[in-house]
Amino acid sequence: MKYSHISPLAFSIFFVSLFLCIQARHHHITKHKHTRSHISSGISVPPSFPPEPADPPSEPADPPAVAPSPSPDNYDNANGVFDVRTFGAIGDGLTDDTEAFKMAWDTACQSESPVNVIRVPRGFSFVIQSTIFTGPCQGALVLKVDGTLMPPDGPESWPKNTSRHQWLVFYRINGMSLEGGGLIDGRGEKWWDLPCKPHKAIRFFMSSNLTVQGLSIKNSPQFHFRFDACKSVHVESISITAPALSPNTDGIHIENTNDVKIYNSVISNGDDCISIGSGCHEVDIKNMTCGPGHGISIGSLGNHNSRACVSNITVRDSVIKMSDNGVRIKTWQGGSGAVSGVTFSNIHMDSVRNPIIIDQFYCLTKDCSNKTSAVLVSDIVYTNIKGTYDVRSPPMRFACSDSFPCTNLTLSDIELLPAKGDIVRDPFCWKAYGDLQKLTIPPVSCLLEGTPQSTSDNNIYHC
Ligand SMILES: *[C@@H]1O[C@H](CO)[C@@H](O)[C@H](O)[C@H]1NC(C)=O
Ligand SMILES: *[C@@H]1O[C@H](CO)[C@@H](O)[C@H](O)[C@H]1NC(C)=O
Ligand SMILES: *[C@@H]1O[C@H](CO)[C@@H](O)[C@H](O)[C@H]1NC(C)=O
Ligand SMILES: *[C@@H]1O[C@H](CO)[C@@H](O)[C@H](O)[C@H]1NC(C)=O
Ligand SMILES: *[C@@H]1O[C@H](CO)[C@@H](O)[C@H](O)[C@H]1NC(C)=O
Ligand SMILES: *[C@@H]1O[C@H](CO)[C@@H](O)[C@H](O)[C@H]1NC(C)=O
Repeated sequence: MKYSHISPLAFSIFFVSLFLCIQARHHHITKHKHTRSHISSGISVPPSFPPEPADPPSEPADPPAVAPSPSPDNYDNANGVFDVRTFGAIGDGLTDDTEAFKMAWDTACQSESPVNVIRVPRGFSFVIQSTIFTGPCQGALVLKVDGTLMPPDGPESWPKNTSRHQWLVFYRINGMSLEGGGLIDGRGEKWWDLPCKPHKAIRFFMSSNLTVQGLSIKNSPQFHFRFDACKSVHVESISITAPALSPNTDGIHIENTNDVKIYNSVISNGDDCISIGSGCHEVDIKNMTCGPGHGISIGSLGNHNSRACVSNITVRDSVIKMSDNGVRIKTWQGGSGAVSGVTFSNIHMDSVRNPIIIDQFYCLTKDCSNKTSAVLVSDIVYTNIKGTYDVRSPPMRFACSDSFPCTNLTLSDIELLPAKGDIVRDPFCWKAYGDLQKLTIPPVSCLLEGTPQSTSDNNIYHC
């Protein structure tokens, strides 16, 4: 194989993706089994994405602290405007325009204007193959997509000599906005039925000061957006759609990424609306409409006894509808580290199967072994969460680790009613410590008071 860009990265992506691919196959098989047992037992949780390998090829360079600047108009007077058609892109929906995009990127990236705009004009459909767009660039970059961008259609037409594991990757970029009124069509349909769904639509890796704004993106073969090892990310007013039954099509996945704002967007898909992986801090999610799908998740964390730290996460002013989960924290048995400082507030649930759930026994197969360590879950606030739940599951479920119970869960202003009929399910708690600040509907009487002995003094649980 020949990699024209940065080969160490390409290689690590290749191996990581190969692993993911194997995992995805495994996941694909277990998913169906799991779904059946899910229906009969009524308690377990559907899986959402394959376990992540111990991934990062290297530690990200510590980028300067920056604030995202989503202002879309600051480039209008700059002369750094590069239309992909001037580099030979055709945009007829058939021609492979990859080379033109690479040339436009390289030119814009090297340009010394403070802001450089790559224009993808309205009325054209550009087909591009798997590409890694690499920085650092001289100035800030705007990739302004007003037309349609898409990969070759399905596995058959995917060129044999390009990576099947990634589609568009943005790597080592400081200061970029992906924006416009256009569409990114992942053309995932032909990949969904394969046991291996190798590529994610858009991945930002080791980058900072990123804005994604205004676009629509649909039908990714797998995750729609993935941010890993990034800093200062602002996602604003985007729309993501994929069918409810499309596998592993998470909307936005973040991992090892700090200072994230995800606002005013609409996501319906076949997996998590937003998933927050290990190493994320300072994440603010506001005014989202999620569903159908699997809700907003922290996790899964602690797979293969890994250490995970997640803190300072806020999810507020949002609607979650027709979803398997509402707001979920999921950890595998084993693992270390902690999830702490999470607030879920002002969330409307509409026919959600598990509106509020902590699952510290997350397992994709039936026979995960019991372990004594766990990623600690503490300082979690649920406030003003109202709406309806699907009565197949209890509206609140706190299933915490025997050896490391959940601590300091706070519930107030919860009002969850059955979506149909009048059977009210009791909340479920196991080793869950916390308090009710106001009465909830249905009442929760299963939380334990105070704090358990001897969890917090163990050093490995501090992040
Ligand atoms: C793939 O093969 C085609 C035709 O053989 C060639 O034009 C293209 O540059 C190759 N791409 C890569 C990434 O090697
Ligand atoms: C962040 O990126 C924007 C363009 O997207 C740029 O205008 C701004 O200067 C950048 N800020 C920093 C601190 O790099
Ligand atoms: C919330 O997001 C929607 C788009 O989903 C937008 O139309 C609406 O104006 C936003 N509300 C606020 C208060 O920003
Ligand atoms: C939590 O994150 C918010 C941004 O989402 C930030 O403003 C705040 O300072 C953070 N708090 C702590 C204690 O880190
Ligand atoms: C794990 O523990 C549970 C509850 O104590 C028990 O029912 C189950 O059989 C155990 N699983 C294994 C694989 O040991
Ligand atoms: C409980 O959690 C809340 C919210 O994160 C926090 O403000 C409070 O200090 C915690 N209480 C204790 C006793 O740790």
